[in-house]
Amino acid sequence: MPVPAPSADARAVVTGASQNIGEALAIELAARGHHLIITARREEVLRALADRLTQQHGVTVEVRPLAVRNISILCANAGTATFGPVASLEADAEKAQVQLNVLGVHDLVLAVLPGMVSRKAGGILISGSAAGNSPIPNNATYAATKAFANTFSESLRGELKKVGVHVTLLAPGPVRETLPEETEQSLVEKLIPDFLWISTEYTAKISLDGLERNKMRVVPGVTSKAMSVASGYTPRAIVTPIVGAVYKKLGGG
Ligand SMILES: NC(=O)c1ccc[n+]([C@@H]2O[C@H](COP(=O)([O-])OP(=O)(O)OC[C@H]3O[C@@H](n4cnc5c(N)ncnc54)[C@H](OP(=O)(O)O)[C@@H]3O)[C@@H](O)[C@H]2O)c1
Repeated sequence: MPVPAPSADARAVVTGASQNIGEALAIELAARGHHLIITARREEVLRALADRLTQQHGVTVEVRPLAVRNISILCANAGTATFGPVASLEADAEKAQVQLNVLGVHDLVLAVLPGMVSRKAGGILISGSAAGNSPIPNNATYAATKAFANTFSESLRGELKKVGVHVTLLAPGPVRETLPEETEQSLVEKLIPDFLWISTEYTAKISLDGLERNKMRVVPGVTSKAMSVASGYTPRAIVTPIVGAVYKKLGGG
């Protein structure tokens, strides 16, 4: 059974829709005719996006928190990352990251699941990461939260396969909208060569196509695929110090 077709009384939800992957998912869903609920913290950015999508695609776009609604598609996408040794990072920011990347995803899925199961229809796209496949010293909290997202998504898919609710994990490596001028680049951007970055537009498209087909995992681009293969087949004791050394640079160490 496909994910629900666009309908006037159903909404596709995208969290973290104010930029990058979430914004691209919202644009792609609107282009496919879905009415939307979009969330993030910057309301004015969301309102501008909502106006643009309504103008271009004629869809209704609500800017507000999730409520008890007929949710056809959930893109649990909002997430943040920190770099550096946990001992040197701000404790409150680390806790907030777990709250957003783990509990945010869990709460939202649990909120929409009963309705989707009773309608025997729905699609859940969870933004995990290639970073969730293995331990990453100097990116420990992020890697652990994404391990939760990856495992939760793929476990849930197993439970819902026969119910008619699709669950797909998006597990990318480096994705960005456009590469900024050299002077504006962050350390992450400087360390990864241009040709390895995957566009948010392409990521959104193959993610929603994957969700439509109930694919277990979408891994866009060669870097993500290489990271997945390396972490799947190389012993953790070998791969962990190598990855840790790379991420040490990202933490300014
Ligand atoms: N881009 C990559 O290379 C990459 C790679 C692997 C995995 N991922 C995962 O893919 C997802 C999207 O990545 P991205 O690069 O597009 O992220 P991003 O550019 O950092 O955007 C994050 C989004 O989440 C929202 N957000 C942040 N903190 C929030 C909070 N406390 N409450 C509600 N919303 C919040 C932000 O909007 P406001 O600031 O307006 O709240 C923004 O819309 C994340 O889960 C990320 O971990 C990304």
